[in-house]
Amino acid sequence: MRTRLTDLLEIEHPLMLAGMGGVAYAPLVSAVSAAGGFGCLGASTMSADQLEAEMAAVRAVTDRPFGVDLLAVMGDELLARVQVLIDGGASLFVAGLGVSVDAVELCHRHGVLVANMCGRVIHAERAVASGCDLVVAQGTEAGGHTGLVATMPLVPQIVDTVGDRVPVVAAGGIFDGRGLAAALALGAEGAWVGTRFIATPEARAVPGYKDALLGAKEDGTLISRAYSGKPMRVLRNEFAEHFVAHPEDLAPFPNQLRVSMGANAWHLGGDESTAGIDPAKEGFPAGQGVGGVDELVPAAELVARFMREAEETIARMARLAEHTNA
Ligand SMILES: Cc1cc2nc3c(=O)[nH]c(=O)nc-3n(C[C@H](O)[C@H](O)[C@H](O)COP(=O)(O)O)c2cc1C
Repeated sequence: MRTRLTDLLEIEHPLMLAGMGGVAYAPLVSAVSAAGGFGCLGASTMSADQLEAEMAAVRAVTDRPFGVDLLAVMGDELLARVQVLIDGGASLFVAGLGVSVDAVELCHRHGVLVANMCGRVIHAERAVASGCDLVVAQGTEAGGHTGLVATMPLVPQIVDTVGDRVPVVAAGGIFDGRGLAAALALGAEGAWVGTRFIATPEARAVPGYKDALLGAKEDGTLISRAYSGKPMRVLRNEFAEHFVAHPEDLAPFPNQLRVSMGANAWHLGGDESTAGIDPAKEGFPAGQGVGGVDELVPAAELVARFMREAEETIARMARLAEHTNA
């Protein structure tokens, strides 16, 4: 399937693995890129050395393009970290928060593209004004830090505002090929998928995270500031719910992160060997598509399934139109 996104990123399928901090490491990223999608390392919890090692591990598996998402590193430190991803061979820098013109210029000098996560139309306008090459329109359904506007209304409004200048990628609640087809129907050029890819053997996760995802229903998430201090969609549990009911107990930003870590409730970046995870407290970021995730599927197979389902859905829509016209 060919779109402006596949042309820009030089990939086969318009399907991107979200740069999920603590989850999207080399095994998952390389599997998605090797399968013709676009894998993105979630580097928000990585040191510069770790990022270098993860990029080398991706390159050892595939020579296909991959990206790096940096969520929290700002200021001068951001430019140094962006230089690391440029030197490591990434072809896309994804800015999880706002993006500086300096970072965009640095990337463009080295032929690296820049994307920005956008939860509102104004974020997309600013991203394009700063020189970004594509934007991800992320609806409130998304796992992790998220806004208030849902994917269905957000994507076409961002497409109408910046779609003539850059490709728009849809995110939030997309968990199969029907969602990808719907994203294309809304004018997006592809999908950026997080939660569905956590339920793969290749994803990094602390004990209990994948099982909790498989057991959750569509209303099993909520948006809470309990973990980072910023609104984050996570699986519903006592700890997350407490801070929704009692916002007065939240520590001023950025101290809530220390509170959640101190309470043994936040281990994102850990792995299967991390001890002491309590599902009643632990922050397990997940989107509203979680109810549709009921088995672990190898990442390459998942990419193939997404594409097969999207093509079937588009064919079904075409038949509908033919029928209507007949
Ligand atoms: C575990 C997890 C970690 C995430 N970490 C980041 C991050 O570090 N940077 C970022 O830009 N987005 C992050 N996100 C959001 C994703 O990039 C993506 O927009 C979201 O997962 C899409 O919605 P979905 O989960 O419904 O597919 C994270 C999401 C999850 C579930």
